[in-house]
Amino acid sequence: MRISLLQAISLLRTGQVIAVPTETVYGLAACLDCPEAIERIFELKKRPRSNPLIIHVADWLEIHHYATHYPPDFEKLALTYWPGPLTCILPVDARVPSLARAGLLTAGFRVPNLALTRQLIKAAGPLLMPSANLSGRPSATRPEHVEEDFGADFPVLDGGVCAKGLESTILLYQKSKWVIVRLGSLPAEKFTPILGYQPLFVQKEQGDQPLCPGQLFRHYAPRARLILGDLTALVDSPFILGFRERDYPVSKRVIALGSLARPEEVAENLYQSLRQLDLEGASVAWVDMDFPREGLWQTIAERLIRAGEV
Ligand code: TXA
Ligand code: MG
Repeated sequence: MRISLLQAISLLRTGQVIAVPTETVYGLAACLDCPEAIERIFELKKRPRSNPLIIHVADWLEIHHYATHYPPDFEKLALTYWPGPLTCILPVDARVPSLARAGLLTAGFRVPNLALTRQLIKAAGPLLMPSANLSGRPSATRPEHVEEDFGADFPVLDGGVCAKGLESTILLYQKSKWVIVRLGSLPAEKFTPILGYQPLFVQKEQGDQPLCPGQLFRHYAPRARLILGDLTALVDSPFILGFRERDYPVSKRVIALGSLARPEEVAENLYQSLRQLDLEGASVAWVDMDFPREGLWQTIAERLIRAGEV
């Protein structure tokens, strides 16, 4: 059910959960000061309680209400990339509800780059927003994806198609450097001019503790089993996820991820394409993994690999 901005404010302020657009993916939103709504997010998504939520603010300076201190270069990152698809993990105290941070002493913060969403946050207060999909499923990048997972009556603030299509990049400061704990819409290379180094993608600490709890769980998966391959090993499968400029066997149903020349387009289409497989009843699909690995392609590859895990 599509709702207006005023309805969205009123539902959030009366402690309800709604879906909200951002430039990355749709989020399932609850006000930070509504404990029952926060509980409801975990129930609705069937999300493990050990997986914390990101706090979305309209202006990055609001973070000082929650953070206890700031790692080096945080201000530079904030001034350069916010609003935008960056999440920074910062030390916080009990002003952030424990359930929202899964009991950790840190929380993720982000300023979404969509004016509609920032207007909503200004009126309703900071919002906790995980991606608006059932846990494990491909994220939602269109209002209809939210409705597929939560039903036609679920309230959605319509922001159209998400421009980026992949979640924010998550940075954490560790051992005197920022590291990427979740790849996302902002490629690692983009940070070099600001930080003076390219942050590494680090998934686990010594002792196998995940730095980003969400990385532990199955993710982004359609019901179809994905076979990831290159062109020399095209497995016989009725469905193919591939690229517009390539020729695939004509007998196959090819779902185009986009153009090899435009990773931004592939990113925007990725979750839509995975969901399309389900809508068409695919039980297995072959995915063309013959593409570069730098920049945004690194995130695209990681998402496809995660989606293919069983
Ligand atoms: O683009 C995005 O980030 C979207 C939109 C809605 O803003 N949100 C999103 O939220 O992707 P979610 O909940 O689907 O993913 C958040 C990830 C999870 O993997 C979670 O484990 C990690 O952020 N996370 C949250 N707080 C954390 C913390 N304090 N330390 C480490 N990882 C954290
Ligand atoms: Mg998610």
